[in-house]
Amino acid sequence: MPWRNEIQQQHENRKSDALWRTLSTVQSPPERKIRIGGETLLNFCSNNYLSLANHPALIAAATDAVKQFGTSPSASHLIVGHTALHDQLENAIAEFVGAEKVILFSTGYMANLAVPGTMLARHDLMVQDRLNHASIIDGGKLTAAKVRRYPHCDTAAAEKLLANSDHRRKILVTDGVFSMDGDVAPIATLKEICQRHRSMLLVDDAHGFGVVGTRGQGALEMAGGKAAGNVLLLGTLSKACGSFGAFIAGDGIYVDQLTQHARSYIYTTALPCSVVAASLKGIELIQTQAWRREKLNENIQFFREQAKRTGIAVTASATAIQPILLGEAQLALDVSASLRAKGFNVVAIRPPTVPVAMARLRITLMTDHTEKDIRQLLQCLADSLNTLPIR
Ligand SMILES: Cc1ncc(COP(=O)(O)O)c(C=O)c1O
Repeated sequence: MPWRNEIQQQHENRKSDALWRTLSTVQSPPERKIRIGGETLLNFCSNNYLSLANHPALIAAATDAVKQFGTSPSASHLIVGHTALHDQLENAIAEFVGAEKVILFSTGYMANLAVPGTMLARHDLMVQDRLNHASIIDGGKLTAAKVRRYPHCDTAAAEKLLANSDHRRKILVTDGVFSMDGDVAPIATLKEICQRHRSMLLVDDAHGFGVVGTRGQGALEMAGGKAAGNVLLLGTLSKACGSFGAFIAGDGIYVDQLTQHARSYIYTTALPCSVVAASLKGIELIQTQAWRREKLNENIQFFREQAKRTGIAVTASATAIQPILLGEAQLALDVSASLRAKGFNVVAIRPPTVPVAMARLRITLMTDHTEKDIRQLLQCLADSLNTLPIR
């Protein structure tokens, strides 16, 4: 079959399997109300957990930085892309999470490509949770090391993989807060296991950084740990922090190794200064405005209580990511469309982003959501679930 026809066939299969992906073109900031296709909708699917992505202080910081440094750093970090602002941000994050050193990456995706490729070689082992984010999976594909996956949060299986290996160097990688399920990895146990088996632990806390832990340091803080010794922390700045980019924090020796060898750090342009300045302000507000986390936690609590009262099954997630598991992809699309018709933006998440038959609505809560928003969403969701035929 000619290549073009083959692709055409794949597209048709995707459509008939309810897996065709479409873009929503957004005409506003990612706030509680969002404009899409000329409609204003209540938004329940941005990762703007602390409602900082359109905060005047972040906008002012970004604007000032553009005036001072221009629109592009126009070089990679190791040439002339690394400005005083990049330095300041690395130091601010290191101080906040209590790590010796921090390295910035342009995205979390790129940070996840960096670690396995830089730290592991042919006779080494990478062990990871089956439900880790796609960028961690892809990082594993870039290493010559052996990659093994364990069932979701199964610490006994993880330990077995590490214990039964005679690989020279080992690293265990886990999401901190799982991106599609919202549950928190059993980090304290994983840390002990890693210590027992002389393995490093990399926690990708894209969805926990800024949000969970009393001070917002993330899932490591919840587990009483730090990015030190055999533990590395990866965080993104595009979610709770309201900006863009990512970082890895840990002991200087490992961070220096990334600076020397990580291809997704070396061979790409540094983050724009506007973004770096917004991140700096975001980090400051994460630390000084604890009320944002408290309000978000109240919203999470309210959502869960209200869902149960409305007869909607929620999972065990205690974070801002509240999945409603629906199973078949078409059902998830239908419920999402029905909510959209009622004024809510909740995108359907389907395979391969989640396992087959585990399609869902991934509802995300933000600081700025009101109880009324949440009550209305759940009422409309209950109505949709009651009226749509379960296939
Ligand atoms: C757990 C996790 N890690 C990494 C990433 C990638 O981060 P970024 O969007 O900065 O590339 C995401 C999603 O964005 C994520 O959910």
